[in-house]
Amino acid sequence: MAKPLDIRELKALAKRRVPKMFFDYADSGAWTEGTYRANETDFHDIKLRQRVLVDMTRRSLATTMIGQPVSMPVALAPTGLTGMQHADGEMLAAQAAEAFGVPFTLSTMSICSIEDVASVTTKPFWFQLYVMRDRDFVKNLIDRAKAAKCSALVLTLDLQILGQRHKDLRNGLSAPPKFTPKHIWQMATRPLWCLEMLKTQRRSFGNIVGHAKNVSDLSSLSSWTAEQFDPQLSWENVAEIKEMWGGPLILKGILDVEDAKMAARTGADAIIVSNHGGRQLDGARSSISMLPRIVDAVGDQIEIHLDGGIRSGQDVLKAIALGAKGTYIGRPFLYGLGAMGKDGVTLALEIIRKELDITMALCGKRDISDIDRDVISD
Ligand SMILES: Cc1cc2nc3c(=O)[nH]c(=O)nc-3n(C[C@H](O)[C@H](O)[C@H](O)COP(=O)(O)O)c2cc1C
Repeated sequence: MAKPLDIRELKALAKRRVPKMFFDYADSGAWTEGTYRANETDFHDIKLRQRVLVDMTRRSLATTMIGQPVSMPVALAPTGLTGMQHADGEMLAAQAAEAFGVPFTLSTMSICSIEDVASVTTKPFWFQLYVMRDRDFVKNLIDRAKAAKCSALVLTLDLQILGQRHKDLRNGLSAPPKFTPKHIWQMATRPLWCLEMLKTQRRSFGNIVGHAKNVSDLSSLSSWTAEQFDPQLSWENVAEIKEMWGGPLILKGILDVEDAKMAARTGADAIIVSNHGGRQLDGARSSISMLPRIVDAVGDQIEIHLDGGIRSGQDVLKAIALGAKGTYIGRPFLYGLGAMGKDGVTLALEIIRKELDITMALCGKRDISDIDRDVISD
């Protein structure tokens, strides 16, 4: 197959290289997947203004997210089980992001641990926290993130309980994978994936197994979530976590204007307008459709980021134009990783950078900092 030219082609390649249960885990949303689809299609409905005869030389995509320099306003979103898309996936993705000059966010539910990622990177990465009922464990996770010199904590607010994803239930998703005939077949038909996976010991939840009390085998993500995640998480708890962490804090999973106002009052450094990639509340609005309202309500009080449905540089430009200071990609980098390992993550970033750069120029702009609603066509 020729080198993928866009994220859609990377996705097609990932589908051929990653066992079905893990490819499906990435390519799934809750229930009807309506919100998952809307995240992408609502971007298509936003149109850009084509401008001509503007000097297009010396363009720059460099900016900051929470005051930290980024080569373009795109971070890698936290994604669970990334080390199942490709062996040692989190370590590879973090290295690709570091070389590219964009933030990598490690999920609590990662396969490679905080320490694993720290051992192969030279610059700070970000850590995403799920709040568990066991606060000693939460404190321990925060201390580990501090010890690893993580430069931001991304606190996820929209997964107190787990949305139902039909594909995962049907596939019997687990990490490490089960050895039933169905699962063995799914892996046997992906020999390259198996070969790489045999070379690593990292096949379970690296941040949890061996660290949380009474957890030696954590094969079922859904049962662990149901038992351990705190369904009573509150705004008071956000203040406690902020205090415990003491560094830059980003609140992830804000989709409502009232919640955005509450979030702004916490004194956090940024919020991420997000619906968890359509994996939680099916029937919720797309992230991009909520962005302008949230920007209008709290844009002067807190930095606003967005994720959900970004599949191209055009999408990034639209989000920036509508008021986001930064964006995140989840599935695009997972598809890159599944398709081609570290090189695939780099390729996903290169594809988006090139699209963003050319799109910005064709809209008559040369600096990402100058992008505002002016580039959007009514
Ligand atoms: C496979 C997968 C796993 C995810 N795991 C997490 C996670 O562990 N923590 C979290 O805060 N968000 C998680 N998310 C949500 C992403 O951080 C992000 O909000 C979403 O992927 C953005 O949408 P996009 O995939 O369309 O770019 C996950 C998303 C996917 C696709």
